[in-house]
Amino acid sequence: MEYKSLGNTKERLSYIGIGTWQLSSDFEENKKAINLAIEKGVNLIDTAEIYGTEKIVGDIIEGKENLFVATKVWATHFRYDSVIKACERSLKNLGIKQIDLYQLHWPNPGINIKETMKAMEKLVYDGKIRYIGVSNFNEKELKNAQEAMSKYEIVSNQVEYNLIQRTPEIYLIDYMKKQKITLLAYSPFAHGAIFKRKYNNVIKSLNELGEKYNKTAGQLLLRWLMQKDIVIPLTKASNQKHMLENIAATDFNINQKDMGVIDNLTPKNSNLGLSRYKNLIKGYLLFRSLLRL
Ligand SMILES: NC(=O)c1ccc[n+]([C@@H]2O[C@H](COP(=O)([O-])OP(=O)(O)OC[C@H]3O[C@@H](n4cnc5c(N)ncnc54)[C@H](OP(=O)(O)O)[C@@H]3O)[C@@H](O)[C@H]2O)c1
Repeated sequence: MEYKSLGNTKERLSYIGIGTWQLSSDFEENKKAINLAIEKGVNLIDTAEIYGTEKIVGDIIEGKENLFVATKVWATHFRYDSVIKACERSLKNLGIKQIDLYQLHWPNPGINIKETMKAMEKLVYDGKIRYIGVSNFNEKELKNAQEAMSKYEIVSNQVEYNLIQRTPEIYLIDYMKKQKITLLAYSPFAHGAIFKRKYNNVIKSLNELGEKYNKTAGQLLLRWLMQKDIVIPLTKASNQKHMLENIAATDFNINQKDMGVIDNLTPKNSNLGLSRYKNLIKGYLLFRSLLRL
């Protein structure tokens, strides 16, 4: 397994991380699949209070060392006291004393970011969390969040990035590169949509290209992300077969010419992933805050 640095820190994270949103109802198979990834050297595991999977992750990580555990506080908990309480709950669910990476899940335009970041800094200061990250933040939101802090740096931003959701390529990646912030790429398969009929041509081209490397379309999709230096894809696979296939995306290299071929399979401004609904969620959060719900 190859590892890359987290943001500007000395922390080394595996080229691929494990996501735990919407695990299947077969928890034993989920656990086996995740344990398999850990055996193969994956050290990054990502969850969130809103996924309801923190306890499962807690079970999996129990007694294991050298894992890097990331979770997230949901956007309706961004008031100072709520952030602190949410973190305590997550620590309890996960059965650990310290969270490696604590992330703000979605920007909430209804709550002053200064109040939220003050709580995040307090959590680092108190040793409850090690690093601060954000998720679904654009450049401006990222800059505001960083400026709202006095002591610590944002080390990562988790956003959707895949071959049909390429909006991070417009400005965000360049900005994050300059700031040395890791991009945790969620939904590398667009939540499975990339395998649907609509994208048959894309998958067909990837499979053809994959023959040269003895790799599948999915493995090329993951490797294409990994070879972008600040990017670490988060893969979610509920069974061992999918997990093994995805982990095997870490053991080969796509040459520069073929990286260009993959780049050209979809338009650079493609915005067809789940995050195209991002503004709706932001509007909902603002509405809730205005009503003080
Ligand atoms: N921060 C955020 O707002 C946010 C939002 C979404 C996701 N995330 C994170 O990112 C993680 C990954 O995103 P996602 O769950 O949307 O995942 P994804 O990797 O884009 O898609 C998962 C889907 O692809 C299938 N799949 C996995 N490996 C496959 C393979 N080798 N061949 C064919 N199909 C395969 C899975 O099926 P099976 O389950 O049956 O294996 C599942 O249906 C999440 O679990 C979560 O941790 C974060």
